[in-house]
Parts: sequence; structure tokens; C-alpha cells
Amino acid sequence: MLIIFKELTKQFEQSLLDSLEKNDKKGEFEILRKNLITQSSKEEFGDYQCNVCLSLSKIFKKNPRDISNDFINLLKKNKSIAKLCKSLEIAGPGFINIKLKDEVLINEIISNIQCNRAGIPLIRKDLDRGLSNKVIVDFSSPNIAKEMHVGHLRSTIIGDSISRIFELRGYEVLRLNHVGDWGTQFGMLITQLKDLYSNDLEEIGKIKISDLVEFYKESKKRFDNESEFQKRSREEVVKLQSGDIKSIKAWKLLCDQSRQEFDEIYKNLKIKIEERGESFYNPFLKSVIDDLNLKKILVEDQGAKCVFLDGMTNKEGKPLPLIIQKKDGGFNYATTDLAAIRYRFNKPPNGDDASRIIYVTDHGQANHFAGVFQVAKKAKWIPENCQVDHVPFGLVQGIDGKKLKTREGETIRLKDLLNEAVRRAKEDLLKRLEDEDRYENEEFIANTSRIIGFGAVKYADLSQNRITNYQFSFDKMLSLNGNTAPYLLYTLVRILGIKRKNDFVYDSKDFQYVNYENKSEWKLIRKLLKFDEVIISIEKDLMPNRLCNYLFELCQTFNRFYDQVPILKEEKNIKISRLNLCDLTAKTLKLSLELLGIETLERM
Ligand code: ARG
Repeated sequence: MLIIFKELTKQFEQSLLDSLEKNDKKGEFEILRKNLITQSSKEEFGDYQCNVCLSLSKIFKKNPRDISNDFINLLKKNKSIAKLCKSLEIAGPGFINIKLKDEVLINEIISNIQCNRAGIPLIRKDLDRGLSNKVIVDFSSPNIAKEMHVGHLRSTIIGDSISRIFELRGYEVLRLNHVGDWGTQFGMLITQLKDLYSNDLEEIGKIKISDLVEFYKESKKRFDNESEFQKRSREEVVKLQSGDIKSIKAWKLLCDQSRQEFDEIYKNLKIKIEERGESFYNPFLKSVIDDLNLKKILVEDQGAKCVFLDGMTNKEGKPLPLIIQKKDGGFNYATTDLAAIRYRFNKPPNGDDASRIIYVTDHGQANHFAGVFQVAKKAKWIPENCQVDHVPFGLVQGIDGKKLKTREGETIRLKDLLNEAVRRAKEDLLKRLEDEDRYENEEFIANTSRIIGFGAVKYADLSQNRITNYQFSFDKMLSLNGNTAPYLLYTLVRILGIKRKNDFVYDSKDFQYVNYENKSEWKLIRKLLKFDEVIISIEKDLMPNRLCNYLFELCQTFNRFYDQVPILKEEKNIKISRLNLCDLTAKTLKLSLELLGIETLERM
């Protein structure tokens, strides 16, 4: 319905402008045109509403209902509006409720039935914005030799979904894994590796560390407690940075082994991502400093080079610094991010030529990114009309509201968490099969539990308003009732079941009739028509939970429709019309679940 919405907005703007001009108030137009028409707050009010008359009444110093009356009369004279709208009515203190004509909605639904993208428009590549269509999504990004924890899982799931939405819209998406593969911690890790395994160049490449996370913990303990170890670790950092062959080989080994563990998770969850870690930006760090110096942005403070941030203060009210180079000459996490922004917006060969960069990390990094963005803007590294967004998310908690832990109080390993979801999904499925006296083979059971288990974890995460903390509960996410993946998957299976039962051959493409007599049928049509607006709003605000909410409502609307109207028993025309609505619902569900990174099932 986006096209209708846009057309309506354009025409309303025209009428608003006319009425302002008549009253010599043209200057107010820019403010008033913002959100001129919006979705109706309640379905029964109509399709859209317009609240501008309340503001107009203050400007014209007249009663808002009188203004509404005049404005409606003016709107009704507009031919395009008359073509689209069934009614424009005053409500409350002076709102205008807008109802679209039935045939307008029906034409739209017919075109969506025939469209294999369920009505989602592609971006217009021919519109020369002077910008590339490249969007970088920086997500997942675990740290080498450290645990990939639930925070990284959230980033992975949210980042993947955002990437998929941009891909569907036709953007060129570069999915980047900004892994923490550089920094002083490698000094202690390599020293530990040499002590524990081998200091021999040939041997280093063959080492197999059984438990990297344990290994990290042990090295950290030694680093904190043994001064001699600490000294050697510091020397090792210098060696690594100067490119010593042995150190580099050890570093690569650590990265490779971590990568294998990360890749297993990506493979399971079917995540596509390109690794480009912090080390990639090493060669560009020095020029970050040089350019900031040249632009006179850098300040020396107690030996460190930093930028004091506008509008960001510490507890004592003093401006916060973003430290770019430490006193000892070392660079920071922020320095790498500055080099990365610069590289990503730059044109090739030394750049990606992106027009938007999206960073998905936990909320704890909000200040880091605000600082980095501010400095990058000051340095003019973000080209005009290009955009950077931090997509923050809250913590994952156990049902007790505390940090997610195993019963023994250990942090839960991602692998175990995903396996547990699949195990429980299988348990539920076996019970269901028993209750229904159904037999399914091993392959069906394994595949179905995997899809439901992984889908449930992903959906539980995506369906939350990402900014708030969320409580991780296997019971809730695996339930067949409520806003869960199993409920959506089940609704889809239900629709596919109807189609299997239907033995009547029809071609939806040739069919131009949609019945809308029944109330629940009409509600389904309207719900289906909202899909494109949801997707476009996510592209703007990066909130995948809106898609989940929409899908939940769509499924509820569909299930009500299915419970209330006969489909296969109807006469031919109505049957085809309803089957077409089933098809479009299934298509919308499948496509959306794909956008959420969730595989679908024919039966479950
Ligand atoms: N490695 C970081 C962490 O685990 C996340 C990196 C996010 N991306 C970035 N460009 N800083 O917290």
C-alpha cells in the first residue's frame, strides 16, 4: 500500500500548501508536512488519519473542527484524492479519518497476489543519488581466543536479518565480521603458546589447543600474577607488531582455531559473513592520526592523543575524551573503528565506497560509537548524504532476570545453547507425534527439530524490542502459542495443508476477482496490504521486531479467517479468491521468515 500512501501524502501536501498560501502562511509548510498522514490509530477509524488541523487551528486562530471542515472540502476537490478515497470524516477535536475505496484496495491485493515479492518494491537503481547502493552491516564480530557469547549471538541474528532486508530491497550488502583479532592480549596468548607447546617455528603451525577459552583464561591469570610472564608478553606484542615470522605464525594459528569454532556456529545458523578483522585496518592507523593532526582535531592530554567530545561528559561534568593514541604510542579500539569508517566510505582501491554503515553491538558500546561517529564527522570522513547507524541491543538474561548462566553458574556456551533448543524441540515433537498417533522417519524428526529449535532461538531474539534486555526462556520460545517461531511455522504449515487438500486446478495469475464480503476476509486483505510499509519502516529504523509483530498479527488474522470462512467447500469464484488469499499469506510468511533467517517447513 506504500504507493497509495505516497500518492495520498503528495496530494494532501498540495492541499495543505494551497490552504496555507491562501492565508499567507506558506512559511509553516515545512514543519506541518512532517507525518502529515499516518496509519489509523484504530482499524475501525479507517486506513489513515490526518491530524494537521489541530496545528492549523493555532496558526489560523480558529476552531479546529471548523478548520477540518474547510480542509476536507478542499481535499474533496482534489481529483486524485477523490479517486482513492471513499470517505474523509471529522473525528474528535478535529482529526480527519481517511477511508480508501474498496476497489483501490482490491486492485492492490490482486497485484500483490501476482507479484512474487509479495508487493515489496525494489530500490530504484536508476535514480542517480550520486551515491552507491552499498550498505555495510558490521555484525557478529566476536574476539579471537575469547568466548563467542550470547551478546555475539544477538548481534549475529539481528545483523543477519537486517542484511537480508537490505538485500531483498536490492542494495548491495557487504556483511562484515569485524573480529577482534589484534591488540595487546595477543602478547600474552603467544607467550603462553610458546611456553606450553613449542617455540619452534616448524612446530607452531601444528599446535592444536583443545580449549581456547580455557587457554585464554590461563594466560590471563599468568599475566595478572607473574611479573616475568607479563614482561615477556609485552615484548611479544612489539615482536608481533614488527612482523616477526614466528609471532605472526602463532597469531595466525590462534586466529585459525578461533575461526573454526565461530564458523561452526555460522554454518549451523546459516549465516553468511565475510571476515575482515581489526588487523585489516593496521596499515591505515597512522594516517588516521596524521589526518586528525592536519585538521587540528587532535589534542594532547597527559601524553595521550585524544579528541574531546561535544555533548558527552563524564560524571564530574567534564568533556569525555576519545583516546586515539595512548601514551605508549599504542592504538585503541576506537582508532581502528575510525580507520574502518574512513576505509568503508572511501572509493576503491583503498575503500569500499559504501553509502551507509550499520553497526550491530550491545548497548554498552553506544558511547563508543557516538564518539567515533562524532570524530569521523569532524574529520569529514562521512561523505554528504551518507549515513552511519549504531543498532544497539540489550542484554540476554535468564528467567530470573540475571545474566544467563548454566545451573552450575557457568556462562553458557553458544553451541550448547543451540543444541539444547534443538533437543527440546525434538522432545516436543516426539510427544506430539505420540499424541497424534503419527509415524515420521528419523530424517523428518531431525530436520524438523533443527528448524524449529534454531528458528525459535532466532525469533525469540528478533521479536523483542532490541533495545530492552530480554529474558531467555526455552519454554516460551518453543511454545506453539503466542508470538513464537513455532506458531508462525505452524500457521504456514496449516495453509500449505489447505493447498494440498485442494484438488481444484486454478491459475492465480489469470484470476482478477477477490471476494471481500466476510469481515474476517476483509481484515486479512487489509493486513496483507500493510507488508510493504513494515519492511520500509525497518529499512529506515532498523527494528526487525516490527516484522515479527506484523507476522504475529498476520497469523492471528489468518487463523481467524480460516476458522470463520469455508474455503474448499465454496463455489468456484469464492474458492479461488480465498485460495488466492491463502497463497498470498503463505508467500508473505515464507518471505518474512526468510528475512528473519528462519527456514520453513511443509509439515511439522
Ligand atoms: N569485537 C567487538 C566485541 O566483541 C565488537 C566489534 C563491533 N564492531 C566494530 N566495528 N567495533 O565487543
